[in-house]
Amino acid sequence: MPHHSPELLRKLASVTGTPFWLYDASVIRRRIADINGITDAPNLQARFAMKACPATKILEEMVAGGIWIDAVSGNEVLRARRAGHPGGQDPPVICYTADVFRDNGLEVIQKEGVLPNVGSPGQIAELAAAGYRGKISLRVNPGFGHGHVNSCDTGGPSSKHGIWHSDIAAANAAAKAAGLTVVMLHAHIGSGPQFDELVDNLSHLTDLFATLLPEFPSLEAVSLGGGIPHNYRDPSVVQPIHRLRELFVSAQEKLSRAAGRTLRLEIEPGRYYVAPACTLVTRVTDVKQTRDNEKGSGATFAMVDAGFVDLVRPAMYGSWHGISVVGREGEAPAASVVVAGPLCESGDVFTRDDAELIQPRALPPVKSGDLLAIRDAGAYGYAMSSNYNSIGRAPQLWLEADGSVTQISRRENLDDILKAETNSPLTL
Ligand SMILES: Cc1ncc(COP(=O)(O)O)c(C=O)c1O
Repeated sequence: MPHHSPELLRKLASVTGTPFWLYDASVIRRRIADINGITDAPNLQARFAMKACPATKILEEMVAGGIWIDAVSGNEVLRARRAGHPGGQDPPVICYTADVFRDNGLEVIQKEGVLPNVGSPGQIAELAAAGYRGKISLRVNPGFGHGHVNSCDTGGPSSKHGIWHSDIAAANAAAKAAGLTVVMLHAHIGSGPQFDELVDNLSHLTDLFATLLPEFPSLEAVSLGGGIPHNYRDPSVVQPIHRLRELFVSAQEKLSRAAGRTLRLEIEPGRYYVAPACTLVTRVTDVKQTRDNEKGSGATFAMVDAGFVDLVRPAMYGSWHGISVVGREGEAPAASVVVAGPLCESGDVFTRDDAELIQPRALPPVKSGDLLAIRDAGAYGYAMSSNYNSIGRAPQLWLEADGSVTQISRRENLDDILKAETNSPLTL
């Protein structure tokens, strides 16, 4: 995880203003190399779940690294195409995993020829009605799985994703009747916080796929999804991902043996590539107190200019991100402070868990004007930012390995926020 020099962060803050996002190209490339290192055996292929961070620069790094794409909307497919990922299904470099087709989804599948990964039985009829004939993938809800928090649960009776495993045969029959051929079976069972749990789930999933294989004579591939965890609390912890190489190789062999022909085994991590590669830098605008009373204890609030419109994970899931006071990284904590943002929402707090609104963080002395670095913000960070409170998204900066910095998106202004507003009468 990068700890950029205070001088660099201060200089960037004075040039672009705050808050801003700073990506580190070296970290992204290291993470791509990690994933390539566990998928470098024959018939293994890694994708990038681009929803984690769809910036063109990141997508271009994936092209350079030979990483394929998992997109989740028509526009994500088009973003990947613009960044240089090829369309078509030979091979299916872009897979489009859809819970629901909306907007241009069906049209993009037809035009770009990408592989649709169907997550709901009715989508088979939708594809057929749109004139699509050809290959599809089925996303399976295997009945088990684990998200990093309950709201991210991706497999089991409470999950909205995929087709329940015992309904897969019926979906296959419907696909056949509609002139569609199932060439891939897919499941994403989420990244539980424990690496061992991921390994168990992936093995279990491989066994489930092996039982389904006889029904799919045209199958070309199986996808085990994403979910390689990142340790946000201690980013120096190296995940033992080398264990996954063995698991993938043996899963590919086992499934190919069961199928009686060579199958491709795919994975599609998102966060692992990008989580540690970006820091959100924000400025402290004030430090204030609440006082003890009958409702509870008082707290010290460091008010900052970034909020959940920038990084929503703490407010949405109670996610933990490391926070450091720029220039005081080595200093002992002076007090526990709540780091809170500018939004007119009580939940606009970076230091919280999923039960309490505030969870003060022990930090070195913080004063107005200080910069804070919010770490590991690359996955589901800018990608989930919004225009709530009409603030506009903060700029994204890209630090190259040679030390040069490029602005890859500028700060949004009012015109950006208003650009889709119209006053057009509808002809009914
Ligand atoms: C279908 C699918 N694939 C891959 C991923 C990537 O997961 P992660 O970022 O945890 O690796 C997700 C994330 O939720 C997903 O829904």
